[in-house]
Amino acid sequence: MISSWLRQGILPVVNPASVDQALQIAQGLQQGGITQIEITLRTPAALEALAEVAKAFPDMAVSAGSVLTPQQFEQAANAGATLFISPGLTEALAKHALQNQLPWIPGVATASEVMRAMELGFKTLKFFPAMAAGGPPALQGLLAALQGLSIIPTGGISMDTCPAWKSVKGVIAVGGSWLSSNLPPENVTEVVQTRASQSIQVWAGL
Ligand code: 3PG
Repeated sequence: MISSWLRQGILPVVNPASVDQALQIAQGLQQGGITQIEITLRTPAALEALAEVAKAFPDMAVSAGSVLTPQQFEQAANAGATLFISPGLTEALAKHALQNQLPWIPGVATASEVMRAMELGFKTLKFFPAMAAGGPPALQGLLAALQGLSIIPTGGISMDTCPAWKSVKGVIAVGGSWLSSNLPPENVTEVVQTRASQSIQVWAGL
């Protein structure tokens, strides 16, 4: 289910300052060739931004990030999110995802956390915070012992470090805010478009 949601190797993480900014970012991503987005539920504008992006960009797969409670799961689903991502794994979130058959990617950083996720039936996982947790060598070490997983490292990743992550077997995509952070006050769409198309090329190894 998650593999069909995830169409590309780059999953832009957007922490929207406003609905308008989120729309400009989504426009830039789309123009740059990106068709998926994670909007984190961390800012006051996030839920409305998610709803408006989902409405304005029906071809874009919209996920909710930083989902910390079952209530946020519901709010994000009602706003139009079709995938749900968390920085960690809790019983309450796992139960909610399983009972409601919602596609959920829990976050893991250690072997015990990965094993807990596997016990509960989750095989697509977010390695978070990816760089601080040891970077590609740490993930490679984990995946040598724990196989059959699909991993999306996120946290501290930049365009330049994408290739190192891609080369770890089991990594299906990388997430990050580098496409939409430190934006200039003007020309947001153009700046994001350029970053998006460059990131796609870097991921493709061009
Ligand atoms: C997330 O919520 O997934 C991360 O905060 C994104 O990490 P980054 O901002 O370091 O890319």
